Amino acid sequence: QNVTGSPAKRVLLLKPRGFCAGVVRAVDIVKIALDTFGAPIYVRKEIVHNSYVVNDLAGKGAIFVNELDEVPAGARVIYSAHGVSPAVREHAKERGLKVIDATCPLVTKVHVEAIKFAKQGYSLVLVGHRDHEEVEGTQGEAPTVTQVVSTVEEVAALVVPDPNKVAYLTQTTLSLDEARYMIEALKKKFPNIVGPHAQDICYATENRQTAVKNVAHGADVVLVVGSRNSSNSNRLVEVSQNLGTNSYLIDKAEDIRAEWIENVSTVAITAGASAPEILVQDVVQYLQGKGYGSVEEVEVMPENVRFGLPPEIVQAIASAP
Ligand code: F3S
Repeated sequence: QNVTGSPAKRVLLLKPRGFCAGVVRAVDIVKIALDTFGAPIYVRKEIVHNSYVVNDLAGKGAIFVNELDEVPAGARVIYSAHGVSPAVREHAKERGLKVIDATCPLVTKVHVEAIKFAKQGYSLVLVGHRDHEEVEGTQGEAPTVTQVVSTVEEVAALVVPDPNKVAYLTQTTLSLDEARYMIEALKKKFPNIVGPHAQDICYATENRQTAVKNVAHGADVVLVVGSRNSSNSNRLVEVSQNLGTNSYLIDKAEDIRAEWIENVSTVAITAGASAPEILVQDVVQYLQGKGYGSVEEVEVMPENVRFGLPPEIVQAIASAP
C-alpha cells in the first residue's frame, strides 16, 4: 500500500530472461560474417525467431531467404540457430554455396542423437511442433523412421514396425511439463522405449520457465517479450497461464493493451531466448510511465553459459587482414 491507500505499482524483472547462449552465438556469427566478408550475406530463414533482431541484421546487410534457391550460386549463406536437415546441406553443396553454420550446439546434440538411434535400428518419435524449423531439421536426419507427435492423441495413434525398438527425442524449446506428460504417454504405450541420456529441452528454456514458475504466483500479470513464432516465448506464456496468472506475449512495449494492466499492481516481465534486452528495457520504461515506480530484478538462478564460434568464423577472423 502506498500513502494514497491504493496498492503500490511495481515491476518484477525476471532473471534469467532473454538471449540464450545459442542466440548470442547466432547473432554474433551474422555480425562477424558481415564485418569480415562484407554485405550481402545470405541467411536461410530467420536467424532467430525475433522480428527486431532480424530487421536489425537486415539493416546491416543480411539478406534473409526462405530457401537456398534464392541464394545466388557461389554466395555465402548462414544456417539459422534452429538447424537444417541433411537435405538442405546437400542442396547447398550442389549450389556451390559457402556455408556458415549457426545451428545452436544444443540443437546439433539432438541431431546427433537422432542419427545414433536411427543407425541402431530404432523407430524415432520426435516430440515437438511439426511446423517448427528445428523439428524439420531434426526429422530430416532420419526421415523414413521418424514420426513427429505433439499431442497424447497422436501418441495413441502411433504405429511402428517393432514396439520394442522405439526411441524418443524432443524439441529443445518445449514446455517441461508438457514434455514430461508426453514422455509418460510414450512410456505407457511403449514400455521399452529409450530416450536421450540428458533431456533435450535446453538449459535456457528450462531456466526461463523455472523463473516464471517461481514468480507468477506473486504477480497479477506476466508479460513475455518475444515474437509470435518464438516457441520458447509462447511456452513461457502457457506456463504462467497454467498457474492461473494472466500472461501476454508482446513483441514490443506498444503491444501492451491498456486493459491488461488496468487495476494491476504487480507486473512481472520476462523475455524469450531470442528477445533482445533493449525491448525489455522499453517495456520497463513504458510501465514506469504508467506509474510503476518500483522495478525489482528477481534472480531465480544464475546462468553463465557461453558457446564458442564455429570453425568457419574462427578461421575467417584469423585470416582477416
Ligand atoms: Fe539453443 Fe536453447 Fe537457445 S536450443 S538457441 S540454447 S533456446
